[in-house]
This record gives sequence, structure tokens and C-alpha cells, in this order.
Amino acid sequence: MQFFDVYPRWPIEPVRAQGCKIYDKEGAEYLDFYGGHAVISIGHSHPYYMEALTKQLNHIGFYSNAVLNSLQDEYAEKLGELSGYPDYSLFMVNSGAEANENALKLASFHNSRKKVVAFQNSFHGRTDAAVQVTDNSKYKAPVNENMDVVFLPLNNIEAVRETLLQEDVSSVIIEGIQGIGGIRVPEPSFLQKLSSICEETDTVLILDEIQSGYGRSGRFFAHQHAGVRPDMITVAKGMGNGFPVSGMLIAPKFEAVHGQLGTTFGGNHLACAAAIAVADVIKAENLVENAAEVGAFLMEELKKMRQVKEVRGHGLMIGVEFAEPIKFMRNKLLFEEKVFTGATGTHVFRLLPPLSVTMDEAAEFLRRFVNTVNPVSGSDSHFPSNLTI
Ligand SMILES: Cc1ncc(COP(=O)(O)O)c(C=O)c1O
Repeated sequence: MQFFDVYPRWPIEPVRAQGCKIYDKEGAEYLDFYGGHAVISIGHSHPYYMEALTKQLNHIGFYSNAVLNSLQDEYAEKLGELSGYPDYSLFMVNSGAEANENALKLASFHNSRKKVVAFQNSFHGRTDAAVQVTDNSKYKAPVNENMDVVFLPLNNIEAVRETLLQEDVSSVIIEGIQGIGGIRVPEPSFLQKLSSICEETDTVLILDEIQSGYGRSGRFFAHQHAGVRPDMITVAKGMGNGFPVSGMLIAPKFEAVHGQLGTTFGGNHLACAAAIAVADVIKAENLVENAAEVGAFLMEELKKMRQVKEVRGHGLMIGVEFAEPIKFMRNKLLFEEKVFTGATGTHVFRLLPPLSVTMDEAAEFLRRFVNTVNPVSGSDSHFPSNLTI
């Protein structure tokens, strides 16, 4: 059997990783400014995390949600404290899309409405409801066409007001910072007004913090820069530092009705052990503060580069836009300077290093980035083609 070839893949195979570094089969060392797509939060192979997972596996790795699992309570308590939402409840699942799927569903159970408002250039995942609220027709199959979804322009409060005043919208789903859509930060005043209109019209506000959450923006959640409190918050990526685990933080006004939501794997023992270890390390090592500090330094330095058209984001979720396509630079950075980066569209680098990245590693990244960006000439014909991720 062969692997289904739906991903373009770099011809590099990491076999070992430590902190902010990745090592390939040949022993070459790479600086990880992609974080495995914003997933690596506390750094690769953190000793506390490895010990916690190993210990848990030696006790019990999995049992179903038909029995008590006090690790879930321990994690909920720690997450409540760390995130500033101690009065919310937690429902755990396995991936970002699944968290959004359940959030949209719980909102609809709550207010018995069907319509959903999402934003232009949004990305919320690839399962049925999640892909229908994603603004990209390429990801949607004919089976994903039954929902009533309205896509509005980001930061246009009048369009939102007009739609929500009909009082038939179940939920509004919005990313804390649009990731795949180009690192677009919603304006704080827009989020504040959106939150008030949702409250006035009994519309559920869902903040998708799957990419922008878990400390990445320099606050635990990106929406906390605007001081709003959504009805539900979805989390994934950084939550397990690579272990597949996700969840929804649910405001007290939602009633938990047996049977409405369910999951086989969600919140299992290993997933909880991973999530607890990540939460412990984020707190003990002040990684949210580190993300704010290192991110501010990176953004400030990147803004000084004359080749750069715009720098956007918060903390360690940084978009660096160029006037010309970045494919050549990104390949050069990877194959010659040995730096992994993300991208969005054709012109924007997406920097998502581990939250534990040091100032020295940031300075080293900048040195290699400048080396790459300065001589923007030549052809990329010697690099493997089809490398967009
Ligand atoms: C904002 C956002 N929401 C949802 C998802 C989907 O997460 P997953 O791939 O874990 O289903 C992603 C993934 O990139 C994302 O960035």
C-alpha cells in the first residue's frame, strides 16, 4: 500500500528534534521557525513532557469516557487558571476541525438556530461544518454544501450588525488572528463591538484560537488583546506540543446535556498527560511572556528591512509580506540556510517558532533571513518544485 499523495512534501526527513532545532537523517541541523505548523509550543522533546508521557503510558494509556478520569479534571483546573477562564467548562476532542465542529453544534443546540456567520479568508478546518465555515471553495466537496453560512469582511462591523439584527444567526466564528488567511489581526474595537452585538442578539460568539491561542500571540489567547470574553473558545495545536489533542472552553451559560456531544478518543489518559505537561511547562517557564518578548524583538527587526512590505501579527505568530513571491527565498532559507518557515499565499512568510525560542535563536534566524532576502536574484530551478505548504 502507498501513502495517499495529497500533500506536497519537502524532501527532508526529520528524525530527531530538541528545543527549537530539528535534525534530519543526514544529521543536518535546522532552526524551526515553523513549529510543525504552530504545534510545537514548549519546544521539541522537552524532558518534563517526555517523562510525563512515558510515566502515563506505564500506568494506563487509554480508557473510554464511560469511566472516571481525574486527569481531565486536573487539566481543566490548570487550563482554567492559565487561560483566565476558571469558570468555563472543557470538552476535549482530538483535532482543531473537530473542536470547531462541536462548537458550532453546541451553539445550534443552545439557541436552536442554523445560520452561521464567518469571515472572508477564514480557515476553520476540513470536517463538514468546519469546512463550510472556511472561506475556500477548493476544500469543499458537494457534500459540504448544505449549511447556511454568510461570509462577511473582517473588521466591517456594520455588515455584522445588519446580519445579526435579523436574530436568526446561531453563531459567529472568528479566528483570534487569521492564520492561513494571511496573519490578519481583527481590530480590537471590531471584536469588542462584535461581542456586544452577539450578546444583544443571543448569537454565540466562537473564538477559534486553534492557531493563535495557547500563548502564541503573547497573551494566552489572541482575543485577550482586545479584552473580550467569547462564549466558546476552541484550542488545539500548541495544547499537546504534538500529541493530537484539542478542546472547547465553554461559558457557564451552556447546559451540558447527556448525549449531545461525544467522542471515543477525546480526553484520553495520554492526551491529558500531554496537555497537563504542556500547561505546567508554559506556566513554569513563563512561555507566554517569552512569546511576547521574543516576538516583539523579531517584529521590530523585521520592520527595519527595506525589502519587507509589511509585518503583521502578535507575539510569535508573525506574517512577513513581500512585494514579490517568496517561493525562491523560502526554499533558499530552507535548503541553504537550514531554516523551516511557514507561508500563507504566495507573498507572506508565516513565522511560528516554538514559544520557548530564545533571543539568541531569534537573532540567528534574523541573520539567516537577511542572508536570504538580500540577494533576491537567481533562479529556483535547483530547488525541488511544488513546495508550498
Ligand atoms: C485557525 C484554525 N482552525 C482550525 C484548524 C484545523 O485544525 P486541524 O488541522 O487540527 O483540524 C486550523 C489548522 O491549521 C487552524 O489554523
